[in-house]
Formats: sequence, C-alpha cells, structure tokens
Amino acid sequence: MTSPSQISDDAIQTRKADHLRICLDDKVQCKTVTTGFECYRFSHCCLPELALSDIQLSTTFLGKSLDAPFLISSMTGGTELAKTINQRLATVAQHFKIPMGVGSQRIAVEHPQAADTFAVRSHAPDILLLANLGGVQLNYGYNTDTCRQIIDLLAADALILHLNPLQECIQSRGDTNFRGLLSQIEQLCQTLPVPVIVKEVGNGISSDLALRLIAAGVAAIDVAGAGGTSWAKVEGERATDLRQHHLGQTFAEWGLPTAECVTSIRAVAPDIPLIASGGLRNGLDAAKALALGADLAGMAYPFLQAAHESETAVYTLMELLIAELETVLFCTGNATLADLRSSQCLQPNRI
Ligand SMILES: Cc1cc2nc3c(=O)[nH]c(=O)nc-3n(C[C@H](O)[C@H](O)[C@H](O)COP(=O)(O)O)c2cc1C
Repeated sequence: MTSPSQISDDAIQTRKADHLRICLDDKVQCKTVTTGFECYRFSHCCLPELALSDIQLSTTFLGKSLDAPFLISSMTGGTELAKTINQRLATVAQHFKIPMGVGSQRIAVEHPQAADTFAVRSHAPDILLLANLGGVQLNYGYNTDTCRQIIDLLAADALILHLNPLQECIQSRGDTNFRGLLSQIEQLCQTLPVPVIVKEVGNGISSDLALRLIAAGVAAIDVAGAGGTSWAKVEGERATDLRQHHLGQTFAEWGLPTAECVTSIRAVAPDIPLIASGGLRNGLDAAKALALGADLAGMAYPFLQAAHESETAVYTLMELLIAELETVLFCTGNATLADLRSSQCLQPNRI
C-alpha cells in the first residue's frame, strides 16, 4: 500500500479555504452541459382533489425518518469558516429533519485540531448525518480503522465515500491511484458498523458502475451528476501551472448528466436507495428527480451560498424548497412522494 499522502497543515487549510471561495462563484457552475431535467415537464392537473395541507413530504432513508426528501450534500470542514457553515447547515437540518453530509474528513484525521470543524452532532442530534472520505484514500493509507475514526468523530449514521478521478487528475499533487478500490469498498461494506454510500462529486455514476457497487454491498448511491458545480473548473481555477489550468478548461463540462444517471440506474436497480444530486437548484428540479425514481434530492451549491450568508438564509432556502416541492405535488394531484413516483405525471418535453 502507498503511504498516506499527508500534506501540510497550511496546504490543506488553504485548499479548503480555496474550495469555499471558488465554489461561491457562479463561474464554476457547468454552462453547456445541463442536468437533463429541463427535458421533462409535469402534466398540470387543475383539479387535484386535495387541499395543499394534505401534501405529505415525509419519507425514510436508510431506516431514518425524514420530514422531507432533501439532502444537504457533503461540502466542508477544516477551517473556521467551514465550521460556521457546517453548524448553520446542521442547525437547519435538525429543524427540518433532513439529512446532511460534511466534507471530506481527511483533514481531521491528519490534523486532529481540525476535528471540531466537523463535529455538528450536538447541533443536529436526530438527523441522518453522513461522514465523508475520498474513496481513493483507501489506496493511500486509509483503512477500516481510519474509517471508524471518521464515523465516530461525527457520530455518523453512514459513511459516504466520494469517487472523484477527474478532480484528482486536475488537482495539484492529486491522488490518482484508483487501482483495486472496488474490493476495498466491498471489504468496508462488510466490516464497518454503518452503511456505506458511494457518490461522485459532479461527474455522475453510470448504471454499469452502480451495479458493481451494489454487488460490492454499497447501501446507497448518490449520482452527483453533471450540470451543477464543476470540479474541473474549480481545480482549474486553483491551478498554479498552465497545464493544470488547461486540463480544467478542457474537462470543465465532462460527465454524465444527473437526470440520465437517475433514470439509467433506476432502470437496472429498482430498489437501491438512490440520491439525485448535481445541479439541482430548486424544488421543481427535486420533484423531477424524485418522479424519475430518486429517493432524495441533494444540493450543495445552493446550501453553500445560503450558509455563507446566514443561518436565516439556510432556513429561508429550506422553506422555499419545501414549498416548491409541495406545489408540484399539489398541481399534479399527488398527495405523497410515492404517489408522485407512480403517477406518470412527468413527461419528456415535446420538441
Ligand atoms: C464547497 C464544496 C466542497 C465540496 N466538498 C466535497 C467533499 O469534501 N466531499 C464530497 O463528497 N463532495 C464534496 N462536494 C461536492 C458536492 O457534494 C456535490 O456532489 C457537488 O457539488 C454537486 O452538487 P451541486 O451541483 O449541487 O453543487 C463539495 C461541493 C462544494 C460546493
């Protein structure tokens, strides 16, 4: 096994701070590749035979009850600003009983003084809280014990492993040895005390890969498809040499659109708990993802913008997302998420 690719305190703090600063800028959002949700529209029903107050958004995911099918996607930790953002997000997640992920906890393992920037359990005692690590770190010194450490630090309900080969190619001194990871993921699924979720970071997961992950024992998949935050753009922006900058530009719009990931995975794996994320920007996008078969709708960028502003802004965003999703259910005549999914009310746009 390769030894841990430990990087200095300063370098990793700078990287985390850069990610927050750059991701807050709209210019690292995909521009030409889209999520694919714009190719669908709901069939409007002007006689829903429901009161708006009848709409029920509650659901369960990995055995936990949620008030609404949203996820605050994994983002940050490791700096004082990240700590504030995590605490704001966790407080609102607790209020609305929705799940939340934190950013990669590698920095907390390598620099224990950063651990408290992730430790949000006291702010969100009841939510489905998701630990996070780059899957590739399993080839750089991380193992079951370090994963347990990451889970314990958060008192997490599940561990997310993110797979980000494109980002690692573009990032300076990226960890690019992705050999033999599937069998290590399988091993983790067998030995860890909590379920393992695998996600991308904005380039999507195909149905073929989903089937291999499911066979390895993964409990849920988050497609994190293309159409939203582009990590090629983010790392291209951070690049200090021209080659990496150009790599970032060339692959800026690379990846599988989110809607395509959801439909193709659902077609081959009807029962796997499935999260749609990557470019979802409002409750209407979320409704389309859910109608296509996702169980949860995840968002990073919208929550980052709101949490950077204030806790109130996150609260306001969450209320809006819920109102938008309720409006879709009401105006399609569906009282529950199960009704929405089985109703065939989402149709491809006519050209
Ligand atoms: C500032 C920021 C930091 C992120 N860090 C992580 C991370 O550490 N681990 C991870 O799995 N995903 C990370 N992501 C990726 C998101 O979880 C998500 O997959 C991606 O941004 C696409 O969603 P979006 O288009 O809604 O932003 C990060 C995203 C942002 C905006």
